[in-house]
Amino acid sequence: MSDDAAGGAPAAPGPTPAPEPAPAPAPIVRAEGLTKTHHGEGAPVHAVRGVDLTVRPGEFVAVTGPSGAGKSTLLHLIGGLQRPDGGKLWIGGQRVDTFREARWAVLRRRSIGVVFQFFNLVSNLTVADNVELPALLAGASPKAARDSRAELLAELGLEGRERAMPGELSGGEQQRVALARALVNHPALLLADEPAGSLDSKGTREVLRLLSRFHQRGQTIVMVTHDARMASAADRVISFFDGRIADDAQLGGGRREKPGGVSRVLDLKE
Ligand SMILES: Nc1ncnc2c1ncn2[C@@H]1O[C@H](COP(=O)(O)OP(=O)(O)OP(=O)(O)O)[C@@H](O)[C@H]1O
Ligand SMILES: [Mg+2]
Repeated sequence: MSDDAAGGAPAAPGPTPAPEPAPAPAPIVRAEGLTKTHHGEGAPVHAVRGVDLTVRPGEFVAVTGPSGAGKSTLLHLIGGLQRPDGGKLWIGGQRVDTFREARWAVLRRRSIGVVFQFFNLVSNLTVADNVELPALLAGASPKAARDSRAELLAELGLEGRERAMPGELSGGEQQRVALARALVNHPALLLADEPAGSLDSKGTREVLRLLSRFHQRGQTIVMVTHDARMASAADRVISFFDGRIADDAQLGGGRREKPGGVSRVLDLKE
């Protein structure tokens, strides 16, 4: 017995795995003084003028505002589709405003899904290939890509349409494929720019229902929309006006930090 105790002793002095309190999860998006000026044909357009913004894991944020306010520009900056002229940007705690295109491409592939108003599917690829492509590009095995694709298409009510070409689908169906493509790599952040902007009311309802369902499971979403009904599905509404945040309102609910969102932030930091 005493042998046992002696034998057991050396194991004891190691550091006790103390149950440390979990650190607060990093915001998914943090922007400080973000600015973007477009230099087109005429006078420069100050589309985004010093935006401070924090989006926490699990939030569903709607960005509304008049046409030309700079909403799309803001979303493009957050997704690295355009570069800011000034300010700082962090995604999942990582400073990204200094990233060049190659690093942004990797970050987007792994961690950011993007859905636009006009689907942007590859027209000469089947529905299945459109959804699998980003997974393959992110390094998934063909089998894993197929499995994720099958799961998502079933979830989005598109089972049986795998072999269809995008042009053979309705607008609502195409947008659901675009959503599947954006979500296939389980991105920490989903960016959507008028995701139902070109759909009829039935298609709009469908997209809204799906976004709400993913949000309920912890998906962080930043969505630009003109549509008050779409915005009301979010739990936070940012009014964007003249390149600035004019209002930032929490729509009750208290659904801020969710387990899904938190673990995804950790994934993101790897
Ligand atoms: N690539 C560009 N070159 C020059 N000007 C641009 C460019 N992109 C946007 N702008 C201008 O920047 C301003 C903000 O545009 P942005 O697309 O961000 O607005 P928005 O709020 O998304 O509008 P909408 O609701 O109509 O989509 C507009 O005045 C627009 O004309
Ligand atoms: Mg826009």
